[in-house]
Amino acid sequence: MLEIENLDFNYLGSAPLFENAKLCIRPNTFSIIIGPNGGGKTTLLNIIMGFLKPSKGTIRSSFKQIGYVPQAHKIDLEFPIRLIDHVRIGCIQKLTWWGGFDKKTDLFVQQILEKLDLWSIKDLRLKELSGGQLQRAQIAHALASNPDLLILDEPTSNIDPKAKKQILEILHSLKETVTILMVTHDLETLLPETDQVFLVSNAIEPVDKKTLCVHTAMGLYEHRLIQPRGE
Ligand SMILES: Nc1ncnc2c1ncn2[C@@H]1O[C@H](COP(=O)(O)OP(=O)(O)OP(=O)(O)O)[C@@H](O)[C@H]1O
Ligand SMILES: [Mg+2]
Repeated sequence: MLEIENLDFNYLGSAPLFENAKLCIRPNTFSIIIGPNGGGKTTLLNIIMGFLKPSKGTIRSSFKQIGYVPQAHKIDLEFPIRLIDHVRIGCIQKLTWWGGFDKKTDLFVQQILEKLDLWSIKDLRLKELSGGQLQRAQIAHALASNPDLLILDEPTSNIDPKAKKQILEILHSLKETVTILMVTHDLETLLPETDQVFLVSNAIEPVDKKTLCVHTAMGLYEHRLIQPRGE
């Protein structure tokens, strides 16, 4: 369980982004965060990850290990690292006393790369990957720490429909073992698989799946557009 209560947050010198906000993520659920650009989605994830400190509020978590896939434009591609090593770094806590990884960890990394359809390109540098491959590489890196909560910030943005479908299928297949919290604009495709939806727009608002209308699915997030179907 992840529970946030009475959350206040503002960037230095800026107006409050969240005031008295709350959020609850239950284990073994698939939750999505929607909301307009600048609404505070990435900020909220950074608060959950502990990268940003709220001015007020409590964050309680029973999750032991969180995997994080940052928004694509935040990744430094110039770092000269091979895909397989990028995934191995995710297993850093399994490093042995002699500074290498044992056979079990190597096999674990191979299984993750195979699951994400990346094994055949494991020796490419990150900057040689396509957008879809890079997004899958980021998910592989996050899974290498064997997380019980996987947080993803728009993992399917800027990639073609086929690559997007592949990523969403992989995430669905993880649903049984990992709790997923994901920022996305692909509401329509994901809705059937989703347990909880939150609208983050200078506030955190749980949204009843049944009340999401076609406007919201198209990315028009104004509150007045969220109405029960048929009304
Ligand atoms: N490091 C920062 N310093 C100051 N203000 C920031 C910082 N990062 C984000 N902001 C501001 O906080 C607000 C929320 O930004 P955030 O990146 O959380 O939005 P978002 O919902 O993730 O948007 P997008 O859909 O474009 O990714 C925006 O107004 C943004 O300009
Ligand atoms: Mg963002």
